[in-house]
Amino acid sequence: MLYRSVQDIDFEISELPRLPTPSRVLMTTPDHFDVQYVINPHMAGNLGTVDAKAAMRQWESVKSTYSDMGLDVQTVSGQAGLPDMVFCANQTLPYLDHRTGVRGVFLSNMYADERSAEVDFYAQFFRGEGYETRAIRANIERKFEGMGDAIWHPGKQLLWGGFGFRTDEEVYHQISDTLDVPVVLLYLDDPDFYHLDTCLSVLDERTALIFPGAFEPDGLALFRRLFARVLEAPEDESRSLFACNAHCPDSRHVIIQKGCSRTNALLRDAGFETIEVETDEYLKAGGSVFCMKQMFW
Ligand code: ARG
Repeated sequence: MLYRSVQDIDFEISELPRLPTPSRVLMTTPDHFDVQYVINPHMAGNLGTVDAKAAMRQWESVKSTYSDMGLDVQTVSGQAGLPDMVFCANQTLPYLDHRTGVRGVFLSNMYADERSAEVDFYAQFFRGEGYETRAIRANIERKFEGMGDAIWHPGKQLLWGGFGFRTDEEVYHQISDTLDVPVVLLYLDDPDFYHLDTCLSVLDERTALIFPGAFEPDGLALFRRLFARVLEAPEDESRSLFACNAHCPDSRHVIIQKGCSRTNALLRDAGFETIEVETDEYLKAGGSVFCMKQMFW
């Protein structure tokens, strides 16, 4: 059930089992957030430049945006020596098994050694919430970075799976077999868009926001086949303001980095309400809103 091109598609979105919209949000305190190494191009030139006070203020405002929307926000404590741990979309892929109702997470095999120790803290958190935890077993060498690359189609048991930089294609066999879900594979090869969540934001069951320049023709055709509307963010807002790292938790409000004015206009024309937040300190590390949270049930 891995799909690489439109010709492979043998299902309709409407036929797929339902995935309930998660109403809980996990965030990680930024006390130890910083740029201390370079593992993506956005981090270059930003070593040691994080303003801790501004980072805390920006994180608090993202957090209150979620709680003001009525979502239940939980926090994990950031740990000394793990400056990227605040990006809590990357260490796990939460799932809800459509055959059994079991809640679980796949645990990531982080691409960079600097981030490997982050995963255990999230395994602990999710076990405490009654989740099962599963290792990626394709092969110990296979990399996987959770919801940085693997993104659920809103409301449906269908996974969009990015690979190329941080995640190896092979892991999607295991995920698809274990959960009995189709996975649409998307190859990434522009280093600025090293995670799928940097160039794709799924807004609702019918609508996606993408930066088209980050995808191959097969990938673009898959979006157009499986989403009724595909909004295209401009290059400058995508590359430097992470426009496509916006997050729409409720099919209606889109939380997005401040200053993406043309993307905002596209979103509003499509009927969404935008909520602008400042994540400038996090952009220095190559992340914005979508990376700073993990949704779960
Ligand atoms: N500095 C982090 C890294 O390169 C940023 C991760 C951002 N997360 C995301 N989901 N795109 O791993």
